Amino acid sequence: MKLDRILPFARLLLEKAVSPGDITIDATAGNGHDTLYLTKLVGEEGHVYAFDIQEQAINKTRAKLEENQSAHLATLFLDSHDQLKNKLPQAENRKLTGAIFNLGYLPGGDKEVVTVAHSTIAAIEQLLELMEIEGIIVLVVYHGHPEGAIERDELMQYVTSLPQEKAHVLHYGFMNQVNSPPFIIAIEKR
Ligand SMILES: C[S@@+](CC[C@H](N)C(=O)[O-])C[C@H]1O[C@@H](n2cnc3c(N)ncnc32)[C@H](O)[C@@H]1O
Repeated sequence: MKLDRILPFARLLLEKAVSPGDITIDATAGNGHDTLYLTKLVGEEGHVYAFDIQEQAINKTRAKLEENQSAHLATLFLDSHDQLKNKLPQAENRKLTGAIFNLGYLPGGDKEVVTVAHSTIAAIEQLLELMEIEGIIVLVVYHGHPEGAIERDELMQYVTSLPQEKAHVLHYGFMNQVNSPPFIIAIEKR
């Protein structure tokens, strides 16, 4: 057998939790790969809300969706993911079942603009409030850059202290790879 690599495993987790017609969140839109992927999971009846603080990322994501005739399935916010509670429509009656964070910096972009623990954690807290039970939050943690290591440590402290009545927390990663390989933290709402 071949163990699932990090990105395929992140998607497998989302596939288990998300059904057509649901709402999902791409908390770090970047170049739009995950936003596009989520539009395929939720289909024509569902919707994706995607966030990024860089205009370049929002433009790339919009272009990727347009190339794939999927722009109508996503709303893009040029804003921090910790604003998601304020940004999501109040009257949404579909279920929020999945969210993904690909942490770190924009590939091919400004390496100084990175995700940081305080806003990542604030967004997770909001998601835990808004999500359906058994909804999943998937974090792909890139910790090879200095701020990434700080974010990793704060996140690990936060997720390991989440009460087990509130969430199941999974840690998935390869332990013998060189160069700080990314790993997954997945949080299932209970
Ligand atoms: C690793 S990239 C995401 C890659 C993306 N998932 C893709 O498919 O291409 C991380 C992104 O997070 C964005 N970011 C950093 N801080 C953020 C925040 N507080 N809220 C939303 N996005 C943020 C960065 O601008 C960057 O584009």
